[in-house]
Amino acid sequence: KKKVAFMTSGGDSPGMNAAIRAVVRMAIYLGCDAYCIYEGYEGLVQGGKLIRKMEWNDVRGYLSEGGTLIGTARCMAFYERPGRLTAAKNMILNGIDALIICGGDGSLTGADKFRQEWPSLVKELVSTGSLTKEQVAPYQHLNIVGLVGSIDNDLSGTDATIGCYSALARICEMVDYIEATASSHSRAFVIEVMGRHCGWLALMAGVATGADFVFIPEKPREDNWEEEMCQIIKQHRHWGKRKTIVIIAEGARDRHGGKITPDMVKNLLADKKGLALDTRITTLGHVQRGGTAVAYDRMLATLQGVEAVKAVLDATPETETCFIAITENKITRKPLMSAVKETQEVAKLIEEQQFDKAMALRDTEFSD
Ligand code: F6P
Repeated sequence: KKKVAFMTSGGDSPGMNAAIRAVVRMAIYLGCDAYCIYEGYEGLVQGGKLIRKMEWNDVRGYLSEGGTLIGTARCMAFYERPGRLTAAKNMILNGIDALIICGGDGSLTGADKFRQEWPSLVKELVSTGSLTKEQVAPYQHLNIVGLVGSIDNDLSGTDATIGCYSALARICEMVDYIEATASSHSRAFVIEVMGRHCGWLALMAGVATGADFVFIPEKPREDNWEEEMCQIIKQHRHWGKRKTIVIIAEGARDRHGGKITPDMVKNLLADKKGLALDTRITTLGHVQRGGTAVAYDRMLATLQGVEAVKAVLDATPETETCFIAITENKITRKPLMSAVKETQEVAKLIEEQQFDKAMALRDTEFSD
């Protein structure tokens, strides 16, 4: 019987539990044994009770739970070869050679490296006497498939990552709450949202809440952004708006790479010689990642989880590691490393203030 294992890695995101449920049940449905690796790569390295066989009923109720019920971690040991060697040994001892990982670009890059290294890890386990030739014989190849779990929606090649729409919904809900108190006092609020190098959450939250002004890393404002912002907000106030909402992505920069901070914006809005608005700062923080998943993320994680099991069972030593994407509303398989490489190149270009190049690269579809 084929053994398929699943793990979540890196930052949690809403919908990961729906992915666990889908993978476990689809694996069982297709006649495989299903396993979960608890605590991300840490579980692979430590083994023992952190690698558990799952039954159909073990994942009951998972759809409506937030976070990841099998835990996640940023595991330092897995960055080093000895950690990956122990991980390979634990997998072979448990009879697992098909692994589905749900995480961000860092976790998925680690997964691909593990797969590439696998034959040499197996050799080393035999040469050092850790395992016998007979023990490793059925495990000459490792098949891996990625699912993209992140609130940031920052991976190239997929329209949405598992969790991004839940985080967006949470941000909008929080901005609605803030708007009630902002309007009451006729105040301004500067709201910082997550997203790392990516401005998707900030931009879409701005659109969905009708914010007065938005800052994102990908499209820094012109050098006169201070006057521009104050002018627009003055106009909105003139039209009778009693509240002002400015959304800043945590990665927002000016054209010269300088960070735009909520304090900078607050000071401008509050300046007695200018708009003189009574201004507060709200950093939404991890509320954006918590709570239950919206219907879209449950649906996406379920459909992608099902596809991931099929893909890992279809994989051969010759096939490239794939991840499961959604493109124009279709669940598709795409080459993992092209997507990771492109994502990292876009982030690097943004850091180097080559914004137009970064956006052009994000717009081009890498070859499937
Ligand atoms: O990648 C998801 C994310 O929530 C980012 O938006 C944010 O920058 C980061 O993780 C926060 O990481 P941590 O939970 O380790 O503080």
